[in-house]
Amino acid sequence: MTKTILRALAGETLPTPPIWMMRQAGRYLPEYRATRAQAGDFLSLCYTPDLAAEVTLQPIRRYGFDAAILFADILLLPQALGPKLWFAEGEGPRMETTTTMEQVRALKPKGAIHDTLAPVYETVRILARELPSETTLIGFAGAPWTVATYMIAGRGSKDQGAAHALKNTDRATFAALIDIITEATVDYLSEQIKAGAEVVKLFDSWAGSLKGDDFTDFALKPAARIIAALKARHPGVPIIAFPREAGNGYIGFAKATGADCVAIDNSVTPEWAAANVQKDGCVQGNLAPEHMVTGGEALVQATRHVVSAFRGGPHIFNLGHGITPDANPDNVALMIETVRAGGSRP
Ligand code: CP3
Repeated sequence: MTKTILRALAGETLPTPPIWMMRQAGRYLPEYRATRAQAGDFLSLCYTPDLAAEVTLQPIRRYGFDAAILFADILLLPQALGPKLWFAEGEGPRMETTTTMEQVRALKPKGAIHDTLAPVYETVRILARELPSETTLIGFAGAPWTVATYMIAGRGSKDQGAAHALKNTDRATFAALIDIITEATVDYLSEQIKAGAEVVKLFDSWAGSLKGDDFTDFALKPAARIIAALKARHPGVPIIAFPREAGNGYIGFAKATGADCVAIDNSVTPEWAAANVQKDGCVQGNLAPEHMVTGGEALVQATRHVVSAFRGGPHIFNLGHGITPDANPDNVALMIETVRAGGSRP
């Protein structure tokens, strides 16, 4: 029997949506914190295949999610292109900045990324062997715009101001950077697929700050290029696109990019997404992650609401964004139980 995630991605409407969760391996789980302590720091965890595979498997063992997502980070690819990356404890990622044409030209050629990223491919190979036969293995990368925002600013920012400034003042440098990331992303995801990833997902976490033509040029077009190249190399491998907070930009995104599924954040209602996005195919989402902190009857009601709004078409249940470190693991169990009870109380 084909795996449920793959059936939904092929466009099948299932009686119970398959489920996984963004950041399902993460700090809300005591077993994750223990393995991370063993690794020493976050990047060592990402680059130690046995430990990265272990934390990927932890939420599968605990909850029986229908998909496992490779444990890695979207910033490993830009790191493989040359700039130094480090995680300041409690502060998030820091990266050597890339803001001039000289620096863009000094990035490594895309063929050179695999030395750095080889441990990631090894993690995928371990997972392909060790996952239960019903669990789908999802690989991923950041989308070019989101990756560029970190490369340009050297860190996360609320408004992606530095990346917008470069885009608006030095278009040639900005476009050259987007191009390099786009090409490297194709090779990176292609290697994940060769190693055993059955689905890949493109995370464009900051797509919502691109408006009008910028959204078309720097969210939609790079995604379309990556998807076309991957479909040519690996026909039949489904691709999930997540242009987070795209709003009306979600409409037609699957058709325009060739994505098999669009992941939806929780700033739009599931009814809106069902009417405007699910009409074109599979959607993933979109319970607010806050429910994993607050739990209770509100969590049950909101979970039922999402299941019922998407019941008429292909749907993969997920949160609208990653689960946060302050979430209660028991609330995750309650969400899964509610989804699997057909959205009603078991
Ligand atoms: O979803 C998963 O469980 C798979 C692994 C995964 C991680 N990051 C692990 C991680 C995935 C798919 C990502 C994607 C990612 N990384 C995105 C896109 C998705 C999103 O959340 O919008 C972005 C923007 C990043 C960059 C990044 N990595 C930031 C900004 C941070 C710091 C913020 C934070 O949550 O601490 C990270 C660190 C990170 N990536 C952690 C995890 C589990 C926490 C690190 C730790 O253990 O201390």
